Amino acid sequence: MFPEQRPRRLRTTPAMRRLVSETTLRPRQLILPMFVAEGLDAPRPIASMPGVVQHTRDTLRKAAVEAVNAGVGGLMLFGIPEKRDAQGSGAVDENGILNVALRDLRSELGDSTVLMADTCLDEFTDHGHCGVLDADGVVDNDATLRLYADMGVAQAEAGAHVLGPSGMMDGQVGVIRRALDEVGHSETAILAYSVKYASAFYGPFREAVDSQLKGDRKTYQQDLGNAREAMRELELDLAEGADMVMVKPALSYLDIINAAADISPVPVAAYNISGEYAMVEAAAANGWLDRERTVLEVLTSIRRAGADLILTYWAAEAAAWLD
Ligand code: PBG
Repeated sequence: MFPEQRPRRLRTTPAMRRLVSETTLRPRQLILPMFVAEGLDAPRPIASMPGVVQHTRDTLRKAAVEAVNAGVGGLMLFGIPEKRDAQGSGAVDENGILNVALRDLRSELGDSTVLMADTCLDEFTDHGHCGVLDADGVVDNDATLRLYADMGVAQAEAGAHVLGPSGMMDGQVGVIRRALDEVGHSETAILAYSVKYASAFYGPFREAVDSQLKGDRKTYQQDLGNAREAMRELELDLAEGADMVMVKPALSYLDIINAAADISPVPVAAYNISGEYAMVEAAAANGWLDRERTVLEVLTSIRRAGADLILTYWAAEAAAWLD
């Protein structure tokens, strides 16, 4: 009698496979990142992210309602201002595009979804860095923290339920937490981009936000070969009061997601980023991959690695498929 062990028995029928399936992928676990640009008359396509656009305030509202109706768990909002300056002042201004759009969405959607905001200066600075520069042109950590605190408070006032500090400055979670609490926003949560690597996969995002960056972010984003450092970043953010933590990118860092999930006492998110989206879209457009199956495989693999939540540009579409 050989073989004695026959794992194929548990794969015989769809019902059997469903019964023993380990990993769930549900719409509520998906968060849709969205872009809103100031001064647009009509949505503007992002060439390297087919199907994703820079929204006007109006089309953002409609697309957000559709995504929420499709069942996504939350929305993550990025703003693209008309004018930029060295301090990224549009980020703090209550009339800045991101804050205005947050107010629009909170009044449209109330508490029916979880509204998140990118708390970072790179879309708002004329040099494209995630923080302000010192006299030598180096990103000034502590001067940037003061601006993050103000930006975070402005976003909470505008209606964000969750802030997503993504600039990789040391101490950013603690400073934002303290600033929120001081003005009475102790209910506003922080999704810390705890582990964020200096990745080539951000390429399409730079187009999506008309990034002004020249050079790279390697003095603040992590070296992609380092895993131990990721755990240190995670522990620091937890100590500073992160309510949820994130690993970014996702696909080339599934080991890091897994390690984070092993030690994190709070929910772990992963960001299935622009370049990961673009790769699949490009291959599918050529007929080289089955788009829907590939997308669901990507998302399931990120969940299997240990992510509770996934930020993905496919969130609304995948939610509709899963429903
Ligand atoms: C920084 C930020 C970036 C992304 C999210 N927040 C870009 C960067 O660090 O260069 C990338 C998201 C993506 O690529 O989909 N505010």
